[in-house]
Amino acid sequence: MLDAASKTFFHALAQSRPLARLASRYGMAGSGGFARRFVAGETVTEAIAAVRALQAQGLTTTLDLLGESVSTLAEADAASRAYLDVLDAVVAAGVERNLSLKLTQLGLDLDRATCVDHLRRLLDRATPHDFFVRIDMESSAYTQATLDVFDTLWQQGYRRVGVVLQSALHRSEQDARALNAMGARVRLVKGAYNEPKSVAYQTRADVDAAYVRIARLLLSEGTYPAIATHDPAMLAAVREYATGRDVGADRFEFQMLYGIRRDLQTALHADGFAVRVYIPFGTHWFQYFMRRLGERPANVGFVLRGVLTERKGK
Ligand code: FDA
Repeated sequence: MLDAASKTFFHALAQSRPLARLASRYGMAGSGGFARRFVAGETVTEAIAAVRALQAQGLTTTLDLLGESVSTLAEADAASRAYLDVLDAVVAAGVERNLSLKLTQLGLDLDRATCVDHLRRLLDRATPHDFFVRIDMESSAYTQATLDVFDTLWQQGYRRVGVVLQSALHRSEQDARALNAMGARVRLVKGAYNEPKSVAYQTRADVDAAYVRIARLLLSEGTYPAIATHDPAMLAAVREYATGRDVGADRFEFQMLYGIRRDLQTALHADGFAVRVYIPFGTHWFQYFMRRLGERPANVGFVLRGVLTERKGK
C-alpha cells in the first residue's frame, strides 16, 4: 500500500542525522524556510504569534513544544523545564492555555516514574492557570504505557488532562469505551506511525471505518471529544452523526494541524464548529516534519520548491 510505503520511507529518513543537519540549515531559515508551512517557528515567541493569528480568525489552538524520544534523564529534565517556561510565556502573553506533549519527551523510555513526576510537576503548575494538557499518542510500543501514565494521574485527581487514540490500532475501540466510562477527554486521530498488522489495520478503508466507529462512540458516550482529522469524508461522517443524534456543536471540537487544510479550518468555524489548531514549534522539528511528508508525498514537491526558491535568493 502506498500509504504504508511512504510512511516507512519517511520514518527511515527521519532517523538520518546528516539529513537532519542539512534540513535544520534551510528548514527554518528566514521567513521562507520550507518547514515553516507546518512548524510555527523555533521560539515560543513565534509560536505565540501563530496562536494570536489563529485566534484572530476565531480558531482555538494547542501548543506543542516539539521533541520526542530523549535518550538521557538530563534531556527529559531539560524538556520538562522547557515546558514550564512555555507555560509561563503563555500565561504572560495572555493567550489560550492549551498544551500538547509527548511522554517520550519527558523520559517515558528511560524511567516511567521520572516521566510521571515531570508530568505531575507540569500539571501542578498548569492547573491553577486553567490549562488543558493533551498527552499525544506515539507508536504502538508506547500505547499501554501512555494510557497507564494517564490513568495514574487521573486516579490522583488530575482532570485538566486528556489522551489520544489512533483508529489504526485494533485496540482503540475498547480503549475508547474505557476512557468514556472514566469521563476522560479523548482526541481521535487515524495514527501517524507505521504499525505492524498484528496490532493495526493495514488498509485505508479499515482505518477510516474504525475512525467513524470510534468517533460515534466518543460523540454519544464520551466527554467533549476532539475529532482530529483533515479528511473530508471523516468530517462529513461526524457531522452527519452529530446532527442525527442531536449532539450539539458545543459537545465536541474539530482539530487540525498547523498549515494543513486551512480552507477546512475556516469553513468549519464559519459553520459554527469549534476548531482547534495544533501548533508545533521548537528546534526539534525534524521528525514531526518528516511524518507530515510521509502522510502526503506531494508535500515533497512543495518542500523542494521552497528549497530551490531559497537557494536562488542567495
Ligand atoms: P488523511 O491522511 O486521510 O488525509 C486526509 C486529507 O488531509 C488529505 O487528502 C490531505 O488533503 C490532507 N492532509 C493530511 N495530511 C496532510 C499532510 N501531511 N500534508 C498536507 N495535507 C495533508 N497522530 C498520532 O499518531 N498521534 C497523535 O497524538 C496525533 N495528534 C494529532 C493531532 C491533531 C490535531 C491532528 C489533526 C492529527 C494528529 N495526529 C496524531 C496525526 C494523525 O494521526 C494523522 O497522521 C494525520 O492527521 C493525517 O490523517 P487525516 O486524518 O488528516 O487523514
